[in-house]
Amino acid sequence: MKVNKVVVPRWFDRHLHLRTGKMLKTVLPCTLNQRATGAVIMGNIPYPNQTSTIAKALAYRKEITSLIPVDSDFNPRMTYYLTDDTSPEEVMRGYEEGVWCAAKLYMANQKGHGGTTGSQHGVKNLLGRYPVFAAMEREGIPLLGHFEAVEEDVDEFDREIVSLERDLIPLLKAFPELMVVFEHITDGRAADFVAQAPYQIRATVTAHHLMMNRNAMFWIGMNPANYCRPVPKREDHRLKVRKYVTGGNRRFGAGTDSAPHDEEAKSRCYGCAAGIFTAPAAVEMYTTVFDEDDALKHLGPFLSENFLCLYEMKVSNEMMTIERTCTFDFWVPQKVGTVQIFAGGRYFPWKLVD
Ligand code: NCD
Ligand code: ZN
Repeated sequence: MKVNKVVVPRWFDRHLHLRTGKMLKTVLPCTLNQRATGAVIMGNIPYPNQTSTIAKALAYRKEITSLIPVDSDFNPRMTYYLTDDTSPEEVMRGYEEGVWCAAKLYMANQKGHGGTTGSQHGVKNLLGRYPVFAAMEREGIPLLGHFEAVEEDVDEFDREIVSLERDLIPLLKAFPELMVVFEHITDGRAADFVAQAPYQIRATVTAHHLMMNRNAMFWIGMNPANYCRPVPKREDHRLKVRKYVTGGNRRFGAGTDSAPHDEEAKSRCYGCAAGIFTAPAAVEMYTTVFDEDDALKHLGPFLSENFLCLYEMKVSNEMMTIERTCTFDFWVPQKVGTVQIFAGGRYFPWKLVD
């Protein structure tokens, strides 16, 4: 029987970029309008403000909360931005004081080039941070990892699998109880690993990686709107990741990685910015994916339940309703401010109504 309405607990975005200043004011309402109870906020804001000290994380949190309306219960869960200078004491203190809920690993290469936006101040020497990971394992502090190899000689489309083998597997062997979230997973082999590994490992999955493969970057010529990190992969990888997600595997959960950049940065001929903005319609996009796979019964756990306790969040008592719009009348606007929305201009058969 065709389902026309889905009611699930209000959801939680496990990976979100809100930026600062004017951009923050522009994009925050999009996630609030999507009825999220909160989100895991990435701290890769411009130097020198990355959330790599308690003071910086608190200042950023304050900037965000000052823009949340008083009648909203949106809970921004901050993350610590790991660097080569990170000490175990700092990570533990911020966690104990409730400043952050997890530490985020971005890696940079020896030249100081990061693999993604705002990652150039990340970790160059992973082994050097092993004492930090030991403390995190002991204290139960989750590690959110951007697992993409950053060395220049690694093929663009192999960065995730190389990092899995080179960085993550040795890390898990050294710290088998460490709670790890493999962020925005894209490679089918990495998804197999997450599904089968005898470790405390989970993965977030974006709506855009479920919806497109790497061809999308080359539709009608170079298409920077579809460029993000990790870069979308071949179709067989997309389908493998999607199979775990819509098949209801509990190790996978929604993390939009909604990453706004203004049009100027996205359309630069020499090095356009990496990042895709899905916040205004993320729930509708995820729902459409589950519906296409005839798997709406697994939507609720993916959006609103799976491994929420890692971020010290509970499954919401409040429900949200998503309805099928028979006429495909949910139209995603092209832009919010100067930021292009992913799939802008397209109609979706689902709409978050309440
Ligand atoms: C993100 C951004 O713009 O901050 N970009 C992206 O392509 N996903 C950073 C990140 O999560 O990698
Ligand atoms: Zn991100």
